[in-house]
Amino acid sequence: MDTMTGKVALVTGAGSGIGRAVALEFAAKGAAVMVADFNLTGAEETVRQVSAGGGKAAAVKVDVADEASVREMVTATVKAFGRIDYLVNNAGISAAGPNVPLHEVDVKAFERVLDVNVVGTFLGLKHAIPELLKAGGGGIVNLASTMGDRATAGDPSYPTSKHAVRGLTKSAALTYAAQGVRVNCVGPGVVRTGMTEAIFEDEQTTAWLKSVTPMRRFGEPAEIAKLIVFLCSEDASYITGAYYPIDGGWLAG
Ligand code: NAI
Repeated sequence: MDTMTGKVALVTGAGSGIGRAVALEFAAKGAAVMVADFNLTGAEETVRQVSAGGGKAAAVKVDVADEASVREMVTATVKAFGRIDYLVNNAGISAAGPNVPLHEVDVKAFERVLDVNVVGTFLGLKHAIPELLKAGGGGIVNLASTMGDRATAGDPSYPTSKHAVRGLTKSAALTYAAQGVRVNCVGPGVVRTGMTEAIFEDEQTTAWLKSVTPMRRFGEPAEIAKLIVFLCSEDASYITGAYYPIDGGWLAG
């Protein structure tokens, strides 16, 4: 159903993977979408796909870890579409390189993961929320992960960042609950995207991951996107400060 006509969604990291699927889902519901990504080529491809489906979208280059860049992203969105009703803080990175024990992790590499995943989410909230307030309220979803519930041994940067996103979500939700801005987060399990490509190159790891996932398969970006867009929509009007795993049953085990 066309339930978001006249609304505007800003999605970071929408140049690939889950973010692209979120942009397409918003457009399918009638919202105009600002596709923000560090990778402008990827963002433009998402815009092409949205337009091919009859939707409205524009692309903007952003580094979510950089405050001036995030400010410009928000300004560009308002300039293009006049308002912001929904924000999805989706841009994220995993730890670069092989998984090593904590005492071997380079502090700069640790800080970069926190800068993109945590500071990036904070900056998105900080600069977009005033626009959601001006629009009379709206919905926000931050991307956590099942690594925001649990962790793996080795490099702690990614699980640390995703645990932090959950805290940030709760704090922001409490701050704006009475003003009509709802803030939630989702925790996908393994989804096949650019981020997880390396995992899928190893057949043994792929088979093991499947075997420990109760549904015996990985998630699709479109499945994650449906939950995210639902949480932004009016259908989720009494939900804020919440966290939803979407993981084929993995956390239940
Ligand atoms: P992806 O690598 O396909 O997409 C991430 C996008 O973010 C890319 O287009 C990339 O260019 C962009 N990006 C990275 N750093 C950026 C920056 N500093 N500024 C702006 N854009 C930047 O990965 P995927 O899987 O679609 O990830 C999306 C979100 O979902 C991330 O937050 C990730 O942590 C989360 N997630 C993914 C899971 C998976 O299994 N794929 C599982 C749980 C959470």
